Amino acid sequence: MKALILSGGKGTRLRPLTFTGAKQLVPVANKPILWYCIESIVDAGITDIGIIISPETGDDVRAKTGNGDRFGAKIEYILQTEPAGLAHAVKTAQPFLGDDAFVMFLGDNLIESPLQPFLQVFKTKQLDALILLRQVANPTAFGVATVDENGKVLQLEEKPKQPKSNLALVGVYFFQNTIHQAIAQITPSARGELEITDALQKLIETKQKIEASELQGWWLDTGKKDEILEANQIVLDTRLTNQNLGEVDSNSNISGRVNIGKGSRLVNCKIRGPVIIGENCYLEQAYVGPYTSISDRVTIVDTDIEHSVILSGTNITGIHQRIVDSVIGKNVKISRSPKRHQALRFLVGDESQLEII
Ligand code: TTP
Repeated sequence: MKALILSGGKGTRLRPLTFTGAKQLVPVANKPILWYCIESIVDAGITDIGIIISPETGDDVRAKTGNGDRFGAKIEYILQTEPAGLAHAVKTAQPFLGDDAFVMFLGDNLIESPLQPFLQVFKTKQLDALILLRQVANPTAFGVATVDENGKVLQLEEKPKQPKSNLALVGVYFFQNTIHQAIAQITPSARGELEITDALQKLIETKQKIEASELQGWWLDTGKKDEILEANQIVLDTRLTNQNLGEVDSNSNISGRVNIGKGSRLVNCKIRGPVIIGENCYLEQAYVGPYTSISDRVTIVDTDIEHSVILSGTNITGIHQRIVDSVIGKNVKISRSPKRHQALRFLVGDESQLEII
């Protein structure tokens, strides 16, 4: 059994962050989203992992994630030259996958449940495909499945205008090698992609064994800013442990679950957990409220912030209007002149979003 993680794609919905980095490397509770997928796969006992990368962000994904040693796995990187669809990614990975069965995991998805029970169902029932489903309020935004009372999949549609059910396809699939024949028979959809839902539909039409299991627990698809904030909130809520490897002065006040990395210094700060602060950060006269993740080498001085994700190397100084619900990229500088001019001064990149209230 192998695993294929999809970490290519365009990431248009997360611009401007994805102009300079891979969305799968955006940190949730200070860990790249992609790494949660790898850990989940390794926990299920699968250690032979292929990761699909794009020409734009592939080097970064490879450099950060490495050869798999840190996860107890063997990772191979597979270049997909264009983001031509999920089924196209499987086609590109065929030399790596060979005739093996595999689990495919979308590299921007996070699920709470372990994979092991689903893997067991897939193996025991000798299925050609096992898909995971989750009830959603807005099925038109997803691949949607119709299933019978035994979990047998009857029909699949990609982003249907009139959905026949509210069961969306979660970004985790188990496949036998029969998926390759199915992919060989499909053509690009109206949006120009080789769709995995079309390949699954081919499996149904050719009477292969395809079943669905309903996912319990949370499922987070982190394609957009608010979804990253939600993922950050849930992971901090459920998985953060109290730890202080930094230096906190006696004027600081810390409550709730707070994790502070080594080399970080807090001076006269108020921190209300759950909050994670990475390594080598400097915080002075700062209020950091619940559900905030601060990556390594961040400086926050004389500033209030909560329910936000801040990437590494960023510096925020003198912002008293509380910063909330924000995802702030790497090496960003946000400051207010001490003279409090009525004017605002910016150097802002393409497609940035600033809301001044
Ligand atoms: P999507 O989120 O559907 O697509 P995207 O990453 O291009 O994002 P956007 O819609 O914002 O432009 O992709 C799901 C996952 O699969 C994601 O981790 C990227 C990956 N992917 C590939 O690796 N190759 C592909 O051809 C596509 C379409 C996606």
